[in-house]
Amino acid sequence: MEFKNLLIETADGIATLTVNRPQSLNALNSEVLGELECALYELNLDDGVKAVVLTGAGDKAFVAGADIKEMAEMNAFEGHAFALKGQRVMLLMEKMRKPVIGAVNGYALGGGLELALACDFIYASEKARFGFPEVTLGIMPGFGGTQNLARLIGPGKANEMIFTGRMIDAAKALAWGVANEVFAPEELMGKALETAKAIAQVGTLGVAYAKDAIANGLNMGKEDGFRYEASLFGVLFATGDQREGMGAFVEKRKAAFKGK
Ligand code: CAA
Repeated sequence: MEFKNLLIETADGIATLTVNRPQSLNALNSEVLGELECALYELNLDDGVKAVVLTGAGDKAFVAGADIKEMAEMNAFEGHAFALKGQRVMLLMEKMRKPVIGAVNGYALGGGLELALACDFIYASEKARFGFPEVTLGIMPGFGGTQNLARLIGPGKANEMIFTGRMIDAAKALAWGVANEVFAPEELMGKALETAKAIAQVGTLGVAYAKDAIANGLNMGKEDGFRYEASLFGVLFATGDQREGMGAFVEKRKAAFKGK
């Protein structure tokens, strides 16, 4: 896979996907969004990839937002289409079977924070800054940010961030539950890859179905969510991964999962 604005490296079942437009602090224009959609689609189908680490090129930004220079020229119809295009990428990340860890190495603003929030969880550098500056531009978040941030940290904190446009630092992001952990900048990628490797070693289908149950369950009432979970749990008993995982436990050996 060759892309103009993305770098993809795969090793040991982990794909590192880097938004690579450092001259614009990795801002998401239509071209980058199209490439992300294509890359994520392909990574999801690649049996050799068990988990993805998503980050931004350079030491300043994860992604500093949707591309303001492109948006400055848009009319209402184009703005709507642009939001839908960004949302397709975010929803694809939620729906894909592979877990995606966001390694937020710097600014994650606007569409960049939306991209981070679409990851399954976030590890942040001490240098990371999170915010929704859209209101300072006369607009509002459009790539799912109002929905995903409020679901993750609750409406009170989400309202404050979105209504003020103010940034929060990594320590506050950790305290508020935006980021799972914060690391020194030079440790961030190593820690994200270490966790991705741990995920790559456990049952691939169990992880994929758990991701499905959590993401879809959040959109259901609790009893429907429980029913959905039980169905997926049952289906796993038809897989080789379940036989291998439990067989290995009984035989006191390490399981070798095949994702089948
Ligand atoms: N879009 C386009 N270009 C951007 C950009 C963005 N979101 N963010 C930064 N850049 C560009 C700058 O224009 C600049 O390019 P030039 O050298 O050609 O002028 C280059 O990246 C470097 O940026 P700065 O010189 O501004 O760097 P800085 O260190 O002084 O400031 C910053 C860093 C605080 C992140 C600042 O760049 C900034 O405020 N960026 C915009 C952040 C923002 O508002 N993001 C939200 C966009 S709206 C959105 O995302 C909508 C949505 O929900 C879908």
